Amino acid sequence: MDTITDPPSPTWTVGTPDVRRAESIGSRPNQLPCDQHSAMNEHREPKSNWYTSFAYPLLSHLPNREHANEVAKLGLKLFGGILADRNADQPCLSTSIWGRALSNPIGLAAGFDKDAEVFREIGKIGFGIVEIGTVTPKPQAGNPKPRVFSLEDDYAAINRMGFPSSGLDAVKRRLESRTPLPNTLLGINIGANKDSEDRTRDYVVCAMELARFADYLVCNVSSPNTPGLRNLQGKEHLSTLVRRVQDSISGKNVPLVVKIAPDVTDEDIDDIVSVGRDAKIDGLIVGNTTISRPRLTSKHKGEAGGLSGAPLAKISTEAIKKVATRVERAFPIIGCGGIRSGEDALEKLKAGASCLQLYTSLMYGGPPLVRQIKDELAGLLMDHGFASVSQAVGADFKAAYGQASV
Ligand SMILES: Cc1cc2nc3c(=O)[nH]c(=O)nc-3n(C[C@H](O)[C@H](O)[C@H](O)COP(=O)(O)O)c2cc1C
Repeated sequence: MDTITDPPSPTWTVGTPDVRRAESIGSRPNQLPCDQHSAMNEHREPKSNWYTSFAYPLLSHLPNREHANEVAKLGLKLFGGILADRNADQPCLSTSIWGRALSNPIGLAAGFDKDAEVFREIGKIGFGIVEIGTVTPKPQAGNPKPRVFSLEDDYAAINRMGFPSSGLDAVKRRLESRTPLPNTLLGINIGANKDSEDRTRDYVVCAMELARFADYLVCNVSSPNTPGLRNLQGKEHLSTLVRRVQDSISGKNVPLVVKIAPDVTDEDIDDIVSVGRDAKIDGLIVGNTTISRPRLTSKHKGEAGGLSGAPLAKISTEAIKKVATRVERAFPIIGCGGIRSGEDALEKLKAGASCLQLYTSLMYGGPPLVRQIKDELAGLLMDHGFASVSQAVGADFKAAYGQASV
């Protein structure tokens, strides 16, 4: 069993995000100091715990990975209170984005809680950010099942879900009935129906209806599983899309973020960043699953769809670096792709990401992985001489050029 030893009593500053988070989940203030580095940082595997020893083996015997995700959601609904991370986050993990304080920079990426069923419970297991969606205007079934595959030997997954969504109205009803956790940012990721004749309008409709519930909105233009969707990343399309969505939420004061693919070419990145800077978007998520196929060994490696998890880590970090050099801190980058350890998290921060998201590693590591990554990241920040998350952001560039170029 995994144990997190009780650290020495922390010194608290009243009103820090850490304290507020601890209060919000009824926890005792209990934290590892940031300079407590241990051997766990040397490994990228989830440590042995109740999830890896009991829950994962059971979930992995279900007929397909999508069932396992549904059972995991049910587990969160039933046992959310027990699963809560009761340790406050280490002070060095606290950061901010769009003027909002976060007790840690780790978020759950879109795709797990597509229909806003468990966003509160997810916040409680220790994420600083929870992103729901992708939400489409009309309900749609998505692609035929099976459409999610575990690639266990590669610590990866392939999915071709195709935006199954209970639709805007159902999601709105859920959001009306449940408030998000006070110290967790709620992102709402929006998309277009497969059969839509005006995809841009779909984003506008979702943005208008959902903005009031969101701490930030994400235009997902990078799913590989809705034919043609990625074309919206092209300069003209993206520029129109962003401006129409911005107009539809003007005055609502909700940051608008675009989620891009990690497979974009250098030219695509030039175009996306120039559109983003011209339109003054509030951020980019880099990125979604990849259609590329690095060397894989698992049984399901030949399945069609987007690849996520460990094999994506380097690809997405490289994409973050390229984006960051062009963004020049005009807006924040949220780094996503293959994060399963504190080391992966630090690599993405140093590459230029201000906050992070993960999904696939949660399938393998379950709720305890969130605490593990946070503890590892806190130790590594100190090892590398960073007093805070924000000091690490873009450090690769500072080292290379002797100045903050991102
Ligand atoms: C089963 C599954 C479903 C996903 N669904 C969505 C989605 O609806 N919208 C979206 O923007 N990204 C979706 N994603 C992509 C993730 O949000 C994330 O960008 C990607 O998986 C890379 O992160 P990871 O390697 O940590 O999983 C999905 C990923 C998986 C594995």
